[in-house]
Amino acid sequence: MNSLVTPIQRNLKFKLPINAVTDWNKAGRHVTQFLNAMSIFFPEGERFFIQSVRNYRNDITDPDLQKSVKAFIGQEAMHGREHDEYNQALIEAGFPVDEMEAQVTALLNFIKNTTPEPFQLGVTIGLEHLTAIFADTLLKHPEFLEGAETHFSALWKWHALEETEHKAVAFDVYKEVMGNSPKSYALRTTTLVAATVIFFGLLYPYYFRMLKKKGDHTNLAGLWKTFRYQWLMPGMIRKTIPAWLDYFKPGFHPWDHDNRDFLDLIPELEAHVAGI
Ligand SMILES: [Fe+2]
Ligand SMILES: [Fe+2]
Repeated sequence: MNSLVTPIQRNLKFKLPINAVTDWNKAGRHVTQFLNAMSIFFPEGERFFIQSVRNYRNDITDPDLQKSVKAFIGQEAMHGREHDEYNQALIEAGFPVDEMEAQVTALLNFIKNTTPEPFQLGVTIGLEHLTAIFADTLLKHPEFLEGAETHFSALWKWHALEETEHKAVAFDVYKEVMGNSPKSYALRTTTLVAATVIFFGLLYPYYFRMLKKKGDHTNLAGLWKTFRYQWLMPGMIRKTIPAWLDYFKPGFHPWDHDNRDFLDLIPELEAHVAGI
């Protein structure tokens, strides 16, 4: 195992203000809705990750990895809880988030019921890779959250920091149970491609559905601004492409992208959250 960091479970509460949920990002309502659409996936997604790692809990013999798995489960459970509250705020603000969450749940249940456990773990480490590279971009470019409403900004930063902290845990479980064989490589790379296609294939329709609810879907200036934000300048998604591709290197490990310096920001964030 070559993990550099052992994660720690933290119990932070963000008390999100419901009235800010439609326009909390300084870049405007469209960017806000894009990030809100990402939140739809988290509660059920996190529970799926927990289950797919838990399936292998008894196969892990390394005590450090056992400790990391316990903290990983704890962290993802806290993320699920806080994003449940986030999504509840979206529902109360009039967005059909419950319907979209039900679709995500149905999809993940289908995967749980019809695919073998190694496939489910492959999907998990693929989605953990996506989360980790988005988190890295968010932490590298504080301008994404600059001037944002303080509770929402703190929640996204906390999630990004903990995703960074535990980014190798599910991956190390996969390595321990699947080894380094060509079959293991083929499964982890194909599940990354499948997970990425399905994630974006749902994210964009959800984003448009969120916009439509408030009549923002015909605002071309707003749509362009978000497209630019994601793919051009600053390019929140474009900037993740090289890191996404690194996953295809046969010996890839999440800590090849050594960004653990960001974790020094955690105590400051904890103190900030305690005071909001
Ligand atoms: Fe998470
Ligand atoms: Fe995660």
